[in-house]
Amino acid sequence: MLRRVRSGIPGFDDIVGGGLIKGRTYMILGGPGAGKTIFALQFLHTGAAEYGERGVYVTLEESVDSIMHTARQFGWDLAKLKQEEKIEIVDASPFYSPLATSMFAVKSPGVLGEREFDMMTLITLVKQACSRVNAERIVIDSLTPLILQYRELFEARMQILQLTKTLSELEGATSLIVAELTSPTAEATLFGIEPYVVDGVILLYNIRSRAERIRAIEVLKMRGSPHSNMLHPFQITKDGIVVYPKEKVFEGGVQ
Ligand SMILES: Nc1ncnc2c1ncn2[C@@H]1O[C@H](COP(=O)(O)OP(=O)(O)O)[C@@H](O)[C@H]1O
Ligand SMILES: [Mg+2]
Repeated sequence: MLRRVRSGIPGFDDIVGGGLIKGRTYMILGGPGAGKTIFALQFLHTGAAEYGERGVYVTLEESVDSIMHTARQFGWDLAKLKQEEKIEIVDASPFYSPLATSMFAVKSPGVLGEREFDMMTLITLVKQACSRVNAERIVIDSLTPLILQYRELFEARMQILQLTKTLSELEGATSLIVAELTSPTAEATLFGIEPYVVDGVILLYNIRSRAERIRAIEVLKMRGSPHSNMLHPFQITKDGIVVYPKEKVFEGGVQ
C-alpha cells in the first residue's frame, strides 16, 4: 500500500493525486529565484511543525543564517524546531562559493576544482542527521554545486545514482532534491539523468508574459501516481507557496 504524505503546500497535493508518496525521492527543478528553496522549506517546516514528521535540511549553497531568515519571512521558526529536535540543519554551505553553480569554485580552504566535500561526505552527513532526529523528511538544497565538481559525465551520473539509492534506502523518509535548471526548457538538467533516477520531478517556472512574470508549477513525472499534466499558477504569499490546482497557465497568461 502506498502511503501519501501531505506536502504542506496548499493546492499542491491536488495536482499529484493527493500527496507525495511516502519514502520516495523527488526532484525540484527551476531557475534562480523560481521558489525552490521556499518550496523545500515549507515542506520541511510544515512536516515538523504540523504533521509530526521530523526533518533534515542540508544546505549546500545558502548559509544557515540566510535559510533561517528566509523561513522567518513566512513565519516559520526553524530555530525553535531545531531546539525541539524536530529538525536538523546540516550546513555544507562553507564549502561552496555563491558562484559555485557556474564556476566550479570551491570555497577556501579548498583549492579550485579540488573536492573538499564530495558525494560520500554528503551521504554520510545525511545518514547521520537522519538517524539523530529520526527524519521522515529530507531536503538537499541544492545538488547543483556538488555535482558540478565532477568533470566526467559518467562519474557525475554514478554519484547522483549513489545519492538517490541512499535516500531510497532510508526507510520511510520522503526526500526532495533541489537542483538548478540550466536552461528554461524542462528537460535540460545538468547531466540529463537526474529526472530518470528519482521517483518524481517537479518544475518551478517564472515565466515572462508580456510585461510581467507568472509563477507556474508542473509535475513532469510521478511514479506510481496519476498527476496533472498542466502548468498551474502558484504564488509566494506571506504564508509561503500557494498552488492553484484549478487554474492553468496558457500562452500569454493565466486562465
Ligand atoms: N516574502 C516573500 N514574499 C513574496 N515573494 C518572495 C518573498 N521572499 C522571496 N520571494 C520571492 O522568492 C524568490 C526566491 O525564492 P527561492 O525559493 O529562494 O528561489 P530559488 O529557486 O532560487 O531557491 C525571490 O526572488 C522572490 O521573488
Ligand atoms: Mg535556493
